[in-house]
Amino acid sequence: MADFTNDNFRLDGKVAIVTGAGGRGNSIGRAYAVALANAGAQVVVADLNSEGAQAVAEEINAAGGKAISVQVDITDTASVENMTVKAKESFGGIDILVNNAALMVEIVDKPLSQTNKERFDKGIGVNLWGAINCAQVVAPYMAERGGGAIVNQVSAGAFPAQSFYGVTKIALLGATTTLATELGGQNIRVNAIGPGMTKSDAGLALTPDDSPMVQFVEAKTPIQGRDTPDALCGALLLLVSEAGRWMTGQVLNVDGGWVMRN
Ligand SMILES: NC(=O)c1ccc[n+]([C@@H]2O[C@H](COP(=O)([O-])OP(=O)(O)OC[C@H]3O[C@@H](n4cnc5c(N)ncnc54)[C@H](O)[C@@H]3O)[C@@H](O)[C@H]2O)c1
Repeated sequence: MADFTNDNFRLDGKVAIVTGAGGRGNSIGRAYAVALANAGAQVVVADLNSEGAQAVAEEINAAGGKAISVQVDITDTASVENMTVKAKESFGGIDILVNNAALMVEIVDKPLSQTNKERFDKGIGVNLWGAINCAQVVAPYMAERGGGAIVNQVSAGAFPAQSFYGVTKIALLGATTTLATELGGQNIRVNAIGPGMTKSDAGLALTPDDSPMVQFVEAKTPIQGRDTPDALCGALLLLVSEAGRWMTGQVLNVDGGWVMRN
C-alpha cells in the first residue's frame, strides 16, 4: 500500500472529453478543460459551438498542454461516435468523460407547470439523453483501457428541483446512480457535481449582481453565495483521478453550503 501524495490527483497519460467546453467565453466547461490539462490529461474540447471549442483547445495548447477541439451535438449518436473516434485517433483512447453540456439559459425561465411537450423534449433531450448518449458511446472505449471515470454536471437547482431545468438535473442524478451501478463491473465510476450559482458568462447573464435571486442565495448560503468556475475544479479532479478511486454514484455539491443534507 502506497502512502497518499498529491500525485494521486495527477492525470498524466489520461485522455479526457469535456462536453460543452467551448461555448460562452468564461464557461464552466472551459475551466474544467483547462484544469484537466493542467493536471496532465490530454483533452478533447467538445461543443456544438465549434469556434468556441477551437479557441479553448488553442488556449490549452498555447499554455503547453495537449488538446483538440471537436464539434458535437450530444443528442445525436452519430455525432457523439464521431467525437469518440476523433479522441481515440488523436490520443489513443478515452479515460474520462465530463458531461457538462446542457441547456440552462435556454430553459430555466419557465416553471414545469408551463413547460409544453416541445420544450420538455428539447430540455430532456440535451440535459438527460445527451449525457446518457455520451456515456453509452464512450463506456466501451473506457472498458478497453481497464476502466474510467464519468462526471455528470447537475445543479444546486435540483435539490429540490426548481423549475423544469431542475427536473432535468435531478433526472441526470438518477442516471448517475443507475450508470454507476451498471458500469461498476467494468471499473467505470460515475459521479456528479452539483454547482451552486456560478459566475460563468452564462450564469452572470442569468443572474446579474443585482438580481433578487442572488440576494436570496447570498442570504441563504453559509460561506458565499456565488463563486467562479475554477472553484468547481478541485471536486472534478478528485472524482476523475486515482484520489477518488473508491467513489462512485455520488454527487458533490460545490455551492457554499446552499444544499445540505442531515
Ligand atoms: N452557471 C451556473 O450557475 C450553473 C450552476 C449549476 C449548474 N450549471 C451547469 O454547468 C454546465 C455549464 O454551465 P455554464 O454556466 O458554463 O453554461 P454554458 O451555457 O456556457 O455552457 C453550456 C454549453 O453546452 C453547450 N451545448 C448546449 N447544447 C449542446 C449540444 N446539444 N451538444 C453539445 N454542446 C451543447 C453550449 O454550446 C455551451 O457551450 C451546464 O450543465 C449547466 O447546467 C451551471
